[in-house]
Amino acid sequence: MKYLTILGSTGSIGRQTLEVIAQFPEEFKVIGLGAGKNIGLLKKQIMQFKPKVVCVLDRERAEALKGALPSTLPLQILYSPEGYSEIAVHPEVTLVVSAMVGISGLRPTLAALKAGKTVALANKETLVAGGAIVKEAIQRKNQLLPVDSEHSAIFQLLLGQNRNHLKNIILTASGGPFWNADPSCLASITPEQAVKHPRWSMGAKISVDSATLMNKGLEVIEAMWLFELSLDKIRILIHPQSVVHSLIEFVDGVIFAHLSQPDMRLPITFALQYPERTVLPVKPLNLCEQPLSFYPPDLNRFPCLRLALEAAKIGGSAPVVLNAANEVAVEAFLAREIGFMAIPNLLEKILRLHQPVTNMDIETIFELDTWARKQAREWIKNSV
Ligand SMILES: NC(=O)c1ccc[n+]([C@@H]2O[C@H](COP(=O)([O-])OP(=O)(O)OC[C@H]3O[C@@H](n4cnc5c(N)ncnc54)[C@H](OP(=O)(O)O)[C@@H]3O)[C@@H](O)[C@H]2O)c1
Repeated sequence: MKYLTILGSTGSIGRQTLEVIAQFPEEFKVIGLGAGKNIGLLKKQIMQFKPKVVCVLDRERAEALKGALPSTLPLQILYSPEGYSEIAVHPEVTLVVSAMVGISGLRPTLAALKAGKTVALANKETLVAGGAIVKEAIQRKNQLLPVDSEHSAIFQLLLGQNRNHLKNIILTASGGPFWNADPSCLASITPEQAVKHPRWSMGAKISVDSATLMNKGLEVIEAMWLFELSLDKIRILIHPQSVVHSLIEFVDGVIFAHLSQPDMRLPITFALQYPERTVLPVKPLNLCEQPLSFYPPDLNRFPCLRLALEAAKIGGSAPVVLNAANEVAVEAFLAREIGFMAIPNLLEKILRLHQPVTNMDIETIFELDTWARKQAREWIKNSV
């Protein structure tokens, strides 16, 4: 039996994780659930999975949740950023699914690793901003298991391989909804068009990141930390069908690929059940259904990817400020405060303003995050 806390239980990954857990009640027991603002859904999850402790964003929501639940229910309700770390380190918990969005996931993920919990990591911003301190907190092999489909694919492809034989890894990218759109259309893209991903149904932030290809840049940084690879060992291919989730290339030129349906329940289940595999109710993959195609990414059309690769090359604090500026930019785009192509303009500005530092502790990371958010908000205020 694995005892779980799910951070971000009301999100796309969190909901799919609970869907998997519901299928294997003899294998998993939910101890903690962490949500943000969606108290209605959290209440339903509490009634179904009977956790011992939950955490929400603030006191107001904690009180609203308390009022909506039967008073006899044995449940501890926490709130605030510290509360998420508390549910992640609960003494009964053995596995934490880290699926909050943005840098908010860093502290509880770090706390879980330090407390010796196994972490199934979806929250890529954790490694983008805090890669070095997260790696330091890991106490044993495979304590941190990737949930991102590309990283799960690479993790699976590397199992049992001699790392000396590895030449590079190739992350595939669906390219999002606009990978082959006329560049003149990009400036007028609306939030509705940007979040309509052709292959995956995901939260709003990652959907916009997929449309700008920033998501692939963040994934490159995530892969550098997860697999201890330098930037020159990571390539990207646009693969619109999202059937090949990633590839590894050996020194002799042989390439291994990981193929499956584009269904996040597959990498989620792999991380939850690792090292086991099980039968899942997922439509079998029919390779005769569609041709598979691959294209190089166009860094001119997608400047966010160029900037993310630049931040990866600079290293140190550059990914922290890029990530923070991107979170603000995406929020502003979704709120219709800025246009789609203003996102890379804003990121470029903040990255150029920033003086990179190395050897960051958690406080420095959050100071830099705050600085970049402030700069980004000022840029937005002055540009509208
Ligand atoms: N979706 C995918 O297919 C996918 C694939 C690979 C990786 N990922 C990564 O997984 C993470 C989650 O993605 P998602 O698509 O599941 O996002 P999502 O649908 O937007 O869900 C985000 C979750 O985080 C909670 N949350 C948001 N802000 C918070 C805060 N400040 N403090 C605490 N909780 C907060 C939300 O709570 P409320 O909704 O209750 O406010 C929700 O439960 C992201 O880092 C993403 O890059 C996602």
